[in-house]
Amino acid sequence: MSPRTPASPAASRAPEDAYTAEPFVPDRADLAALREAAAGCRGCPLHRDATRTVFGAGSAGARVMLVGEQPGDQEDRQGRPFVGPAGKLLDRALAEAGIDPGEAYVTNAVKHFKFTRAGTGGRRIHKAPTRRETTACGPWLAAELALVEPELIVVLGATAGKALLGPAFRVTRVRGTVLREEIHGRRERLVPTVHPSAVLRAEDREAAYRGLVSDLRVAARALG
Ligand code: URA
Ligand code: SF4
Repeated sequence: MSPRTPASPAASRAPEDAYTAEPFVPDRADLAALREAAAGCRGCPLHRDATRTVFGAGSAGARVMLVGEQPGDQEDRQGRPFVGPAGKLLDRALAEAGIDPGEAYVTNAVKHFKFTRAGTGGRRIHKAPTRRETTACGPWLAAELALVEPELIVVLGATAGKALLGPAFRVTRVRGTVLREEIHGRRERLVPTVHPSAVLRAEDREAAYRGLVSDLRVAARALG
Protein backbone atom coordinates (compact mmCIF):
# COMPACT_ATOMS: atom_id res chain seq x y z
CA MET A 1 0.00 0.00 0.00
CA SER A 2 1.37 3.39 -0.93
CA PRO A 3 0.84 6.18 1.60
CA ARG A 4 -1.95 8.58 0.63
CA THR A 5 -2.52 12.21 1.48
CA PRO A 6 -6.27 12.32 2.17
CA ALA A 7 -6.87 15.60 0.31
CA SER A 8 -5.02 14.54 -2.87
CA PRO A 9 -6.79 13.73 -6.18
CA ALA A 10 -5.49 10.16 -5.87
CA ALA A 11 -7.39 9.75 -2.63
CA SER A 12 -10.64 10.91 -4.23
CA ARG A 13 -10.19 8.19 -6.90
CA ALA A 14 -9.54 5.49 -4.33
CA PRO A 15 -13.12 4.09 -4.10
CA GLU A 16 -13.17 3.48 -7.86
CA ASP A 17 -9.89 1.61 -7.68
CA ALA A 18 -11.53 -0.64 -5.12
CA TYR A 19 -14.52 -1.70 -7.27
CA THR A 20 -15.07 -5.37 -6.49
CA ALA A 21 -17.90 -7.74 -5.59
CA GLU A 22 -15.46 -9.87 -3.57
CA PRO A 23 -16.60 -8.84 -0.03
CA PHE A 24 -20.24 -9.58 -0.94
CA VAL A 25 -19.66 -13.16 -2.19
CA PRO A 26 -20.34 -15.68 0.61
CA ASP A 27 -18.11 -18.72 1.10
CA ARG A 28 -19.55 -22.21 0.67
CA ALA A 29 -22.88 -20.95 -0.66
CA ASP A 30 -25.29 -22.76 -2.99
CA LEU A 31 -26.86 -20.96 -5.95
CA ALA A 32 -29.85 -19.74 -3.93
CA ALA A 33 -27.57 -18.24 -1.26
CA LEU A 34 -25.36 -16.66 -3.93
CA ARG A 35 -28.39 -15.12 -5.64
CA GLU A 36 -29.64 -13.72 -2.34
CA ALA A 37 -26.25 -12.21 -1.51
CA ALA A 38 -25.87 -10.75 -5.01
CA ALA A 39 -29.16 -8.88 -4.52
CA GLY A 40 -27.31 -6.71 -2.00
CA CYS A 41 -24.07 -6.26 -3.94
CA ARG A 42 -22.57 -2.76 -3.87
CA GLY A 43 -19.29 -3.79 -5.42
CA CYS A 44 -19.37 -1.10 -8.11
CA PRO A 45 -21.57 1.94 -8.86
CA LEU A 46 -23.87 0.10 -11.32
CA HIS A 47 -26.26 -0.94 -8.53
CA ARG A 48 -27.24 2.71 -7.99
CA ASP A 49 -29.30 3.32 -11.13
CA ALA A 50 -30.44 -0.21 -11.93
CA THR A 51 -33.65 -1.64 -10.45
CA ARG A 52 -32.20 -4.92 -9.20
CA THR A 53 -29.40 -7.44 -9.50
CA VAL A 54 -30.06 -9.91 -12.31
CA PHE A 55 -28.30 -13.08 -11.23
CA GLY A 56 -27.82 -16.17 -13.39
CA ALA A 57 -30.71 -18.59 -13.92
CA GLY A 58 -30.77 -22.34 -14.36
CA SER A 59 -29.86 -25.51 -12.57
CA ALA A 60 -26.57 -26.17 -10.73
CA GLY A 61 -26.46 -29.42 -12.72
CA ALA A 62 -26.54 -27.69 -16.13
CA ARG A 63 -24.00 -29.05 -18.63
CA VAL A 64 -23.67 -25.78 -20.51
CA MET A 65 -23.30 -22.21 -19.23
CA LEU A 66 -24.13 -19.25 -21.48
CA VAL A 67 -22.44 -15.98 -20.58
CA GLY A 68 -23.78 -12.67 -21.94
CA GLU A 69 -22.80 -9.08 -21.27
CA GLN A 70 -25.24 -7.50 -18.83
CA PRO A 71 -29.00 -7.44 -18.27
CA GLY A 72 -31.01 -5.20 -20.57
CA ASP A 73 -34.13 -3.14 -19.90
CA GLN A 74 -36.50 -6.14 -19.75
CA GLU A 75 -34.11 -8.21 -17.64
CA ASP A 76 -33.75 -5.31 -15.19
CA ARG A 77 -37.55 -5.12 -14.86
CA GLN A 78 -38.13 -8.87 -14.57
CA GLY A 79 -35.01 -9.88 -12.64
CA ARG A 80 -34.05 -12.72 -14.99
CA PRO A 81 -31.33 -12.88 -17.67
CA PHE A 82 -32.18 -13.04 -21.38
CA VAL A 83 -35.95 -12.58 -21.15
CA GLY A 84 -36.07 -9.66 -23.64
CA PRO A 85 -35.72 -9.62 -27.46
CA ALA A 86 -32.09 -10.85 -27.44
CA GLY A 87 -33.07 -13.72 -25.15
CA LYS A 88 -35.97 -14.80 -27.37
CA LEU A 89 -33.66 -14.88 -30.38
CA LEU A 90 -31.05 -16.79 -28.37
CA ASP A 91 -33.59 -19.42 -27.26
CA ARG A 92 -34.69 -19.95 -30.85
CA ALA A 93 -31.08 -20.30 -32.06
CA LEU A 94 -30.19 -22.70 -29.25
CA ALA A 95 -33.18 -24.94 -29.99
CA GLU A 96 -32.32 -24.92 -33.68
CA ALA A 97 -28.73 -25.92 -32.88
CA GLY A 98 -29.92 -28.81 -30.71
CA ILE A 99 -29.34 -27.30 -27.25
CA ASP A 100 -32.40 -27.19 -24.98
CA PRO A 101 -32.51 -23.60 -23.63
CA GLY A 102 -34.27 -24.90 -20.51
CA GLU A 103 -31.28 -27.12 -19.70
CA ALA A 104 -28.70 -24.34 -19.86
CA TYR A 105 -27.45 -22.10 -17.07
CA VAL A 106 -27.69 -18.52 -18.34
CA THR A 107 -25.83 -15.58 -16.84
CA ASN A 108 -24.00 -12.34 -17.60
CA ALA A 109 -20.51 -10.91 -17.07
CA VAL A 110 -22.11 -7.97 -15.23
CA LYS A 111 -25.19 -8.37 -13.02
CA HIS A 112 -26.64 -4.84 -13.12
CA PHE A 113 -28.14 -2.98 -16.12
CA LYS A 114 -26.02 -0.01 -17.24
CA PHE A 115 -27.82 2.62 -19.30
CA THR A 116 -28.16 6.24 -20.35
CA ARG A 117 -31.45 8.10 -20.75
CA ALA A 118 -32.77 9.33 -24.08
CA GLY A 119 -33.66 12.80 -22.76
CA THR A 120 -35.18 13.51 -19.34
CA GLY A 121 -37.27 10.55 -18.28
CA GLY A 122 -36.77 8.97 -21.70
CA ARG A 123 -36.17 5.41 -22.76
CA ARG A 124 -33.25 3.63 -21.11
CA ILE A 125 -30.50 2.93 -23.62
CA HIS A 126 -27.97 0.15 -23.02
CA LYS A 127 -24.43 1.33 -22.32
CA ALA A 128 -21.53 -1.11 -22.46
CA PRO A 129 -19.86 -1.83 -19.11
CA THR A 130 -16.22 -0.84 -18.65
CA ARG A 131 -13.43 -3.28 -17.97
CA ARG A 132 -13.34 -2.04 -14.40
CA GLU A 133 -17.01 -2.99 -13.99
CA THR A 134 -16.66 -6.44 -15.56
CA THR A 135 -13.63 -7.07 -13.35
CA ALA A 136 -15.55 -5.90 -10.27
CA CYS A 137 -18.41 -8.29 -11.07
CA GLY A 138 -16.07 -11.21 -11.90
CA PRO A 139 -16.25 -12.86 -8.45
CA TRP A 140 -19.97 -13.62 -9.02
CA LEU A 141 -19.22 -15.31 -12.34
CA ALA A 142 -16.33 -17.21 -10.74
CA ALA A 143 -18.66 -18.41 -7.96
CA GLU A 144 -21.28 -19.52 -10.52
CA LEU A 145 -18.63 -21.43 -12.50
CA ALA A 146 -17.33 -23.14 -9.36
CA LEU A 147 -20.85 -24.31 -8.42
CA VAL A 148 -22.27 -25.27 -11.81
CA GLU A 149 -19.00 -26.74 -13.15
CA PRO A 150 -20.32 -26.68 -16.72
CA GLU A 151 -18.87 -29.02 -19.32
CA LEU A 152 -18.89 -26.12 -21.78
CA ILE A 153 -19.17 -22.33 -21.65
CA VAL A 154 -20.80 -20.51 -24.57
CA VAL A 155 -19.32 -17.01 -24.69
CA LEU A 156 -21.81 -14.51 -26.14
CA GLY A 157 -19.94 -11.56 -27.63
CA ALA A 158 -16.91 -9.42 -26.89
CA THR A 159 -17.73 -8.24 -23.36
CA ALA A 160 -18.20 -11.78 -22.04
CA GLY A 161 -15.11 -12.91 -23.98
CA LYS A 162 -12.90 -10.18 -22.54
CA ALA A 163 -14.28 -10.77 -19.04
CA LEU A 164 -13.45 -14.49 -19.23
CA LEU A 165 -10.39 -14.58 -21.49
CA GLY A 166 -8.79 -11.15 -21.17
CA PRO A 167 -8.65 -7.93 -23.21
CA ALA A 168 -6.97 -9.54 -26.24
CA PHE A 169 -10.13 -11.59 -26.96
CA ARG A 170 -11.54 -11.00 -30.48
CA VAL A 171 -14.85 -12.69 -31.20
CA THR A 172 -14.37 -12.60 -34.98
CA ARG A 173 -11.13 -14.58 -34.65
CA VAL A 174 -12.30 -17.41 -32.41
CA ARG A 175 -16.06 -17.73 -32.91
CA GLY A 176 -17.31 -21.21 -33.64
CA THR A 177 -14.16 -22.90 -32.30
CA VAL A 178 -13.62 -24.90 -29.10
CA LEU A 179 -11.10 -23.16 -26.82
CA ARG A 180 -9.46 -24.70 -23.79
CA GLU A 181 -8.36 -22.15 -21.21
CA GLU A 182 -7.69 -21.83 -17.52
CA ILE A 183 -10.35 -19.57 -15.98
CA HIS A 184 -10.55 -18.72 -12.29
CA GLY A 185 -8.27 -21.71 -11.59
CA ARG A 186 -10.35 -24.21 -13.56
CA ARG A 187 -9.64 -25.77 -16.93
CA GLU A 188 -12.63 -24.79 -19.09
CA ARG A 189 -13.86 -25.55 -22.60
CA LEU A 190 -15.42 -22.58 -24.33
CA VAL A 191 -17.18 -21.88 -27.63
CA PRO A 192 -17.39 -18.14 -28.40
CA THR A 193 -20.01 -16.66 -30.69
CA VAL A 194 -21.59 -13.30 -31.44
CA HIS A 195 -23.97 -11.66 -29.02
CA PRO A 196 -27.65 -12.18 -29.97
CA SER A 197 -28.15 -8.38 -29.77
CA ALA A 198 -25.57 -8.02 -32.55
CA VAL A 199 -27.75 -10.30 -34.68
CA LEU A 200 -30.75 -8.04 -34.01
CA ARG A 201 -28.70 -5.00 -35.09
CA ALA A 202 -27.08 -6.63 -38.14
CA GLU A 203 -27.78 -5.29 -41.61
CA ASP A 204 -28.23 -8.83 -42.92
CA ARG A 205 -30.06 -10.26 -39.96
CA GLU A 206 -30.75 -13.65 -41.55
CA ALA A 207 -27.05 -14.21 -42.33
CA ALA A 208 -26.04 -13.11 -38.83
CA TYR A 209 -28.63 -15.47 -37.33
CA ARG A 210 -27.34 -18.37 -39.47
CA GLY A 211 -23.83 -17.62 -38.20
CA LEU A 212 -25.00 -17.73 -34.59
CA VAL A 213 -26.80 -21.06 -35.12
CA SER A 214 -23.75 -22.50 -36.87
CA ASP A 215 -21.49 -21.55 -33.91
CA LEU A 216 -24.02 -23.01 -31.47
CA ARG A 217 -23.96 -26.27 -33.46
CA VAL A 218 -20.22 -26.46 -32.70
CA ALA A 219 -21.14 -26.11 -29.01
CA ALA A 220 -23.83 -28.82 -29.34
CA ARG A 221 -21.33 -31.21 -30.96
CA ALA A 222 -18.72 -30.50 -28.26
CA LEU A 223 -21.33 -31.40 -25.63
CA GLY A 224 -21.96 -34.68 -27.44
N1 URA B 1 -28.13 -9.10 -23.22
C1 URA B 1 -27.28 -9.71 -22.39
O1 URA B 1 -26.07 -9.73 -22.59
N2 URA B 1 -27.78 -10.32 -21.33
C2 URA B 1 -29.08 -10.34 -21.04
O2 URA B 1 -29.43 -10.92 -20.03
C3 URA B 1 -29.96 -9.69 -21.94
C4 URA B 1 -29.46 -9.07 -23.02
FE1 SF4 C 1 -22.03 -5.84 -7.76
FE2 SF4 C 1 -21.75 -6.62 -10.27
FE3 SF4 C 1 -23.79 -5.09 -9.60
FE4 SF4 C 1 -21.38 -4.04 -9.67
S1 SF4 C 1 -22.54 -4.87 -11.42
S2 SF4 C 1 -22.87 -3.77 -8.01
S3 SF4 C 1 -20.12 -5.78 -8.94
S4 SF4 C 1 -23.44 -7.19 -8.90
